[in-house]
Amino acid sequence: QRLGVGLAHSKLILIGEHSVVYQKPAIALPFEAVFSEVKVAPSTGAVTLASHFYNGKLAQLPDKLQGLRHVIERACQINNQPVKDFTLTLTSTIPIGRGLGSSASIAASLARGIFDYFKADLSLPVLRELVDLSETYAHGTPSGIDREAVISDEPIWFIKDQAVEPIEVKEPLNIIVADTGRIGDTHAAVSAVNARRQSEPDTTNQLLEDLEKLTEDARTMLKTGDLKALGHVLTASHDKLKALGVSDEGLDRYVDISLSNGAVGAKLTGGGRGGCMFALTASTEQALAVEQALLEAGAKETWYIQLTNGVKTD
Ligand code: PMV
Repeated sequence: QRLGVGLAHSKLILIGEHSVVYQKPAIALPFEAVFSEVKVAPSTGAVTLASHFYNGKLAQLPDKLQGLRHVIERACQINNQPVKDFTLTLTSTIPIGRGLGSSASIAASLARGIFDYFKADLSLPVLRELVDLSETYAHGTPSGIDREAVISDEPIWFIKDQAVEPIEVKEPLNIIVADTGRIGDTHAAVSAVNARRQSEPDTTNQLLEDLEKLTEDARTMLKTGDLKALGHVLTASHDKLKALGVSDEGLDRYVDISLSNGAVGAKLTGGGRGGCMFALTASTEQALAVEQALLEAGAKETWYIQLTNGVKTD
């Protein structure tokens, strides 16, 4: 029986979220601990989608999931195939709305699964177009960093509409990611920053420039392997994001707990106001101690990743 399979990991923004919307650089890492997978199988009649958030006909997808329908229909159109006679089964371990790029990852795995089913090559420009269709629907005007990070197997340096390039990571990064369990609203957080830019242009633009400078510093420190300095830069960027108004008490508390348990740096990741944060530690032992402390503080889920030159070793 003909089957198609598509996979895509999630992503972790190391530094530069929000300022990336204003053409400042950002650094993102592939986050393979959670991922989405789509299986495509033949059937007769209307296309159906089975997933943990929706089960039924494609034509009846709720409004907020219409982006997925656009991806599926466009993928069929590019392949000159009718939108019928197959079923999609989606499994994703990426928690939704936590800044880990679940919507972009799901769109990428859908596109890969459908192209695999039609035995067609999926070029990078087409994959980008398909993920953008869904991201634009979900987020309005996304910077594109989620799209690039979920389709890259290496850490990337990203500037909206200008640059996507792999970056060098000299020393292994020991990172604990913690989920507050609260769904963030990236759209609302991005709008709030924009509103702040109108009402308080000077201080807001200064914060965005500070984030740009910290992101540039982070790139240098990744290259030289100065993890202690990198940790300080990450924590400093959390403070700037907090000043921008995109953190919240829960995220701030997890950052404090990480630092008091030996992390070299900690910050929120993604849209903020809920969602996830992460801590950078100097060793595996320290990572496990921070993980324990975050779980005791009520983290819904935690993940440990060790990243070496873009190749995940654990
Ligand atoms: O919350 P997420 O995973 O969608 O990350 C959004 C990153 C932002 O910089 C806040 C928005 C964007 O479009 O880049």
